[in-house]
Formats: sequence, structure tokens, C-alpha cells
Amino acid sequence: MTENMKVAVIGQGTMGAGITEVFAKAGFEVHAVDNSEAALERGRSIVAKSTGRAVSKGKMSEEDQQAVLDRITYFTDTAQAVSDCGLIIEAVFENLELKQSIFKTVDEAAPADAILATNTSSLAITAIAAAVSSPERVVGVHFFNPAPVQTLVEVIRTVFTDDAIVAKLVELLKGLRKSPVVVNDRAGFIVNCLLVPYIGSAIYLYENGFATREEIDKAMVEQAKYPMGPLALADLIGNDVCLAVLEKMYDETKDRVQAPAPILTRLVMANMMGMKTGRGFYTYEGGKPTEDRGPIRRPLQSRGVEIHDRLVGEYLNNCVKMVQSNYASVDNIDTGMAEGCRMPKPFEVLKELTPKRVLEIVEGIYAETGEPGHRPAHLLRQLAEADDQAAAIDELRAATAEAHSSNPRG
Ligand SMILES: NC(=O)c1ccc[n+]([C@@H]2O[C@H](COP(=O)([O-])OP(=O)(O)OC[C@H]3O[C@@H](n4cnc5c(N)ncnc54)[C@H](O)[C@@H]3O)[C@@H](O)[C@H]2O)c1
Repeated sequence: MTENMKVAVIGQGTMGAGITEVFAKAGFEVHAVDNSEAALERGRSIVAKSTGRAVSKGKMSEEDQQAVLDRITYFTDTAQAVSDCGLIIEAVFENLELKQSIFKTVDEAAPADAILATNTSSLAITAIAAAVSSPERVVGVHFFNPAPVQTLVEVIRTVFTDDAIVAKLVELLKGLRKSPVVVNDRAGFIVNCLLVPYIGSAIYLYENGFATREEIDKAMVEQAKYPMGPLALADLIGNDVCLAVLEKMYDETKDRVQAPAPILTRLVMANMMGMKTGRGFYTYEGGKPTEDRGPIRRPLQSRGVEIHDRLVGEYLNNCVKMVQSNYASVDNIDTGMAEGCRMPKPFEVLKELTPKRVLEIVEGIYAETGEPGHRPAHLLRQLAEADDQAAAIDELRAATAEAHSSNPRG
């Protein structure tokens, strides 16, 4: 990557402003684009506030902050902004037609060797690439929120993407001290594909009266050592975002286990998106949950003790299925969930609980529901039957690291 390369970031909302800051802090000249002066002003103030916090904490000098802000130029004309940029990252609203139309403009206006990247969370990158005349330079670059803080970046290639573009982007991200993981284009990539169905299962257990929302959240914080409970997490991410990802995954897999629980669709219909609208699974005042009783009053018959085993069992089975399908390596899944969600590394948890115990749990769930989506992975069974289960996980880690580095397209 050339040192003098300019970067354009289209969309200056939560993600776009964060990505702008990442590149400006690393010394790149950034062309920040949005569709109105008011939106640019909002983006400008996000970066000013975020770098201002770094100054007040003593992590950045005032001169450095000014230098960061000076490296950003603001545009409302996309074609003009991208005309001399080597990397263009789009972070506008999650809408396929909008993204396709922006990519058409960018494809025509950007230099021929520029990389065209999208930060989409749930749209098919292939559908965005297919809309332009040079789809081989289109790639997904999925930053996490807040982009300046979160190290994980999922890099997504499509069937069109040139390997050299992926390699360049990975090098560039490593230079920004990010942890890029490269995967193919599939709904949810690694992190959302594993995290959101786990949240969906927690919502299902809540709706079906297995336990109260507090019992569910407490089980996952205290027993699984997750940083927060799944229902509080749904409220934080936004119930609309969780619903959109589950719908995309359900559309793609037609697996009924991925189908959003009715209560989630109803909360979204009622504009109860979670923290951002003040109400979701919990009700919030000043960003903190209050003592209200939630959308469902009381479980008919609490099965709180099962919560941890069911949710962790299903989640680990999905992690193993992801490796089994050759989508990602054990290392990339561990990195994704640890850096993207601050959750314990799933394959280390599998080692601790043992594949045999997890298989027992998943077999129990499958026997109860009969859902094909709950069937234990063959690979989980193989790991459970190994003489030394921990060694079998280590071997799987090494074999998949090798497979995904020498044959990255899987
Ligand atoms: N918020 C997250 O946690 C998160 C995390 C990862 C990825 N994403 C993805 O990043 C993208 C942006 O999400 P966000 O949360 O920053 O959204 P946002 O609503 O905060 O910002 C979107 C911005 O795009 C701008 N925009 C709309 N149309 C435009 C156009 N034609 N030209 C230029 N700018 C335009 C809007 O004015 C707005 O400032 C989405 O694809 C989303 O799926 C979001």
C-alpha cells in the first residue's frame, strides 16, 4: 500500500466517523463523505468528541488531535471525493439499492486500481459487487463498533474478488494494529453468524417461559463468563439489527432454528429497539435498566438451571459446524468471538467442558425439539469420541490454520 494513499469514507454516521478516525489517526489523508452538510457536521463532531476524550485522558496531545482533524476533508460530492483515493470504504445505511448506487458512482469515479470496500453487516457483498463493472476490486471490510477501539475486522471476499486486493487490505489493516480475519461471503460472516443466533436462542427461551430475563442474563454472565447477558446485549445492539441479521440468516439457510422468535418481531414493530429507543427487553432511564417487569411477565415453569447448558451447547455446536463447513479456522473463530464480542474463546471453552459433555447437551436439545438445526455436528461427535479430546481440538486448530492459509478460498 502506498504511503501517500488517500482513503475515502462514505457515510459519516456511527461507523463511518469511527473508520475516518482510525485512518486519520494512522496518518492517512481521509476524504469523509455524507449527503448533507448537517450529516457532515454530525460526523465531524463524532471524531472531535472521540479524539477529545483521548486528549482529556492524556492518551493524545492537543497538537496530535489537531493534526488528526486536519487530515480529514469533508465532501458532499461522492465522485469528487473518491477521484484520487486508493481505498474507498462505504458505511451508509444498510440498504442494498443505496449501496449499489453508491458503488456504481465510485466504480466510475475512483482510480482504476482503487479498492472498493463496504462495511455492511448483513447484505450480500456479492450483490453489491455484481452491480459494478469491476467487481474483482470489491471487498467487505466489517469493522466493529466503536471502530477506533475494536481491533477485529472481518475481511470478506466474494467469488469475484482478486486475491491481491485481499492481501493488500489485510496488510494495511495489520499496519493499523487491527486483527483482520478473512472469510468468504456468507450471511453473518463469523461473528454475527455465531453471536446473533445465540441471542435468538436466548430470546426463544425467554418467550417460551424457560426463565425470567434476569435469570437468563445472569446465567450467561456468572456461569459462562460472558461480559453481558444475551437479552441486555440484544437491547444494546438494537433489536432491529438482531432481527435483520436473523432474517438474513433464515433466508439463506431456511433453518427454522434461525427464525426470529415472535416476541422479537413484535418488539421491533412496537419500536422497542432497546437502549436507543429507551425500551426493549428492559426499560431504560439514563442508559440504565429500570425495575419494570418486561414484555413477558413471568415464566410458567422456570427451567433456569438449563439456561447456561442449552445456550452454550447450541453455540459451541454452531462453532464446530462452522469449522466443519470449512468456512473458518478454529483460530479465526476464537479471535472473532474474543476480539469482536469479548467472549471467552469458544474452542477453549469446548476443551474445558469437553466435546463429550457438549455432545450430550446438544443431543438432549435435539431429542427434545427434533429440529434439524439442533442436530449435533459430525465433527463434534468425532471430537467427543477421540481418545484424547483436548489433543483432538489442538490438532483441529493446527489443521484448519494450515488449510485456511494455504487454500484461503476453502
Ligand atoms: N452500528 C454498528 O454497530 C455497525 C457495526 C458494523 C457495521 N455496521 C454497518 O455500517 C453501515 C453504517 O452503519 P451506521 O451504524 O454507521 O449507520 P448510521 O445510520 O449511523 O450512518 C449512516 C450514514 O450514512 C449516511 N448516508 C446515507 N445515504 C448517503 C449517501 N447517499 N451518501 C453519503 N452518505 C449517506 C447518513 O447520512 C448517515 O450519516 C451499515 O451498513 C451497517 O450495517 C454497523
